[in-house]
Amino acid sequence: MNKQTDTFLLDSGAAARIVADIGADIATDTPPQVGISRPHESAHLHVAGTATYTDDIPELAGTLHAALGTSARPHARIRAIGLDKVRAAPGVVAVLTADDIPAVNDCGPILHDDPILARETVQFVGQPLFLVVASSHDAARRAARLAEVDYEDLPPVLTPEAAHAAGSYVLPPMHLSRGEPHRHLETAAHRDSGQIRLGGQEQFYLEGQIAYAAPKENDGMHVWCSTQHPSEMQHVVSHMLGWQAHQVVVECRRMGGGFGGKESQSALFACCAALAAWKLMCPVKLRPDRDDDMMITGKRHDFVFGYDVGHDDEGRVEAVAVEMVSRAGFSADLSGPVMTRAICHFDNAYWLPNVQIDGYCGKTNTQSNTAFRGFGGPQGAFAMEYILDNIARTVGRDALDVRRANLYGKGERNVTPYGQTVEDNVIHELLDELEASSAYRARRAATRAFNAASPVLKKGIAITPVKFGISFNVAHFNQAGALVHVYNDGSVLVNHGGTEMGQGLNTKVAMVVAHELGIRLERIRVTATDTSKVANTSATAASTGTDLNGKAAQDAARQIRERLAQFAARQAGVDAATVRFGDDLVVAGELRLSFADLARQAYMARVQLWSDGFYTTPKLYWDQSKLQGRPFYYFAYGAACSEVLVDTLTGEWRLLQADVLHDAGRSLNPAIDIGQVEGAFIQGMGWLTTEELWWNDKGRLMTHAPSTYKIPTINDCPEAFHVRLFDNPNVEDSIHRSKAVGEPPLLLPFSVFFAIRDAVASLGDYRTNPPLRAPATSEAILDAVDAVRAAVAAGATAVPAA
Ligand code: MTE
Ligand code: HPA
Ligand code: MOS
Repeated sequence: MNKQTDTFLLDSGAAARIVADIGADIATDTPPQVGISRPHESAHLHVAGTATYTDDIPELAGTLHAALGTSARPHARIRAIGLDKVRAAPGVVAVLTADDIPAVNDCGPILHDDPILARETVQFVGQPLFLVVASSHDAARRAARLAEVDYEDLPPVLTPEAAHAAGSYVLPPMHLSRGEPHRHLETAAHRDSGQIRLGGQEQFYLEGQIAYAAPKENDGMHVWCSTQHPSEMQHVVSHMLGWQAHQVVVECRRMGGGFGGKESQSALFACCAALAAWKLMCPVKLRPDRDDDMMITGKRHDFVFGYDVGHDDEGRVEAVAVEMVSRAGFSADLSGPVMTRAICHFDNAYWLPNVQIDGYCGKTNTQSNTAFRGFGGPQGAFAMEYILDNIARTVGRDALDVRRANLYGKGERNVTPYGQTVEDNVIHELLDELEASSAYRARRAATRAFNAASPVLKKGIAITPVKFGISFNVAHFNQAGALVHVYNDGSVLVNHGGTEMGQGLNTKVAMVVAHELGIRLERIRVTATDTSKVANTSATAASTGTDLNGKAAQDAARQIRERLAQFAARQAGVDAATVRFGDDLVVAGELRLSFADLARQAYMARVQLWSDGFYTTPKLYWDQSKLQGRPFYYFAYGAACSEVLVDTLTGEWRLLQADVLHDAGRSLNPAIDIGQVEGAFIQGMGWLTTEELWWNDKGRLMTHAPSTYKIPTINDCPEAFHVRLFDNPNVEDSIHRSKAVGEPPLLLPFSVFFAIRDAVASLGDYRTNPPLRAPATSEAILDAVDAVRAAVAAGATAVPAA
């Protein structure tokens, strides 16, 4: 797909440059093990179908299978649940309800408003009410449909607007302001206000939610779970059972994708499997099918924004006020930190001198929305990009020029609304490079010329920048631990607190350890994440997996290397500081040993060959009540240029070309990072174009399978897809000066949405702002086309926003 990838494999010249740069770290002059493209550690297993996911673990004798019975109503009191037919169904062993939970019926990550099984009331269509345990997966699912539930309907709240109108929120509202926004709104040369609608998104991990629990001796429980957060699963399972944390072990070798959907919402499945295993004293597996997974679990929050902006003739923002209302769903889950991140990304890459942001997490009778790649950041930044896109047409300037006029400065105009100074700004240089390499100006002129001669098919083009803050916005999550074992044959086993979901975390951590010990990557094996190995881990989230766990593993490996260096130095009668590790060799004075021989000799001399490691991110502080501080260690930057062709009769469109330049710092593994950028780009494009969540007026999600919910496929990837990494060592002391890459590139396909909007705007000679909503489905595009045509017919120069 990406014809450019191989040009990023480092040639020997580039490798030598990296040696020169990081030589000080490694005390060796042999080639580095980081900064080079290496395949994903499990790539050969993925393609052969032999990678073990949770459902592939050989089943223990006596394993039973569970299925969830769910609510058919969005909001109701439960008068009675008739379970006789369920119990009598073939293969059924037990039916469990909330009454069977021995301790706490809650699996919420922050507040305690998330029942595992609903008891007196149900709050959304799809909410779990009971658990059927049967001899087979099929028998459990068939039986779960036979319940007779007597509902007393209560009035539901089905949209964020309705929740906001009713003042119904899952958390208190959040407010952030700087300067005098309202005074400057009054005095600005131009003022515009309107509403922006932005849809949610289903994570659509290829491997669905799953948990498999087995009781162990002396009141113990082992849970294999597809989760980004094993320690949280340990915590909720032990709470539910009224146990201590040390009684529960949670293990995850890998996920077939998480995308945020398994940060908190794996909890329901872990708890239900463990409840049944505890009750029946046998292994129990719970694997919902795709439709049930989509009906039960939360998604990316959809948002409605109301804005009021004042700007000058050049399009520079003088003041902006924005009201953000998210669809939290029926419970808080992670909606608070998601809203915080939305607020802290409204600025995107722009200096906003006077600003007011008000965030409301609307409580609705729908699935409880949760983390999804970007975690509110994409939603907040999208609103600002939409506002700037409007301003450009209002003042009649090129949208890129208006964006540039508003960028954060260097040394001035560089403090974010939340009080963090932007110290690592590279967006000017990055945009210069992309504007030139994509030939933006010439192609923009060409789209104008094409459109003048083409009445139905219209082209559009747009460049959008990204600035994304890296660190958990809850300070104490920014810690990690690792355990590194060197066996006496010189092979190495690494365990750390992060989870592998396809993003290449284990590969990067293995590369860091190989580099530290000066050994070949093949000597290193990374094992399953396991709460009995590294304790109190954070979720693998906020893109921080490598930043945190890479540093922790480096710390562990350094301690082992130091002990080995001391040992080798004693043998050779030299100073330990002169011992060199590299190329699988250790050189100390005249002594020259293979790493394996040194490990064996050190073992015989009773040197400790394993170590733990720990890391906490420096410089962070955050006052959540004031929304002020330094929530982010650093920022990652990027920009993309997209060109589309839109059929204004059918609303169909194609992405013709995308040019992407993304800042992964000094990339640890360019091949994996480019893969992350490509994947995030296409995933974000799906969010903003074809993926539409639609609930009917009874609160039932009708788009709960791939037949009705359209994610992108290979056919939607542009033929010309040029993804490059921007060479930019992190100014902060991150792991080998790399930058987190998991989430920031999800914002790059804003350029696709605004290119579509540019194409539609051509129908009004670029003078009216098309009221295009997101996702820009064909239907939404046709609505915008009609609105622009109507505005032109009415002689208007501007139409209201979406
Ligand atoms: N890439 C793959 N292949 N699968 C995933 O589930 N999740 C994304 C991103 N890239 C994801 C992915 C999300 S939401 C995050 S937060 C990061 O990976 C987490 O991993 P990292 O911190 O190790 O980058
Ligand atoms: N990202 C992902 N998960 C989180 C965050 C975040 O910023 N904060 C708390 N949980
Ligand atoms: Mo990613 S949304 O932080 O799991």
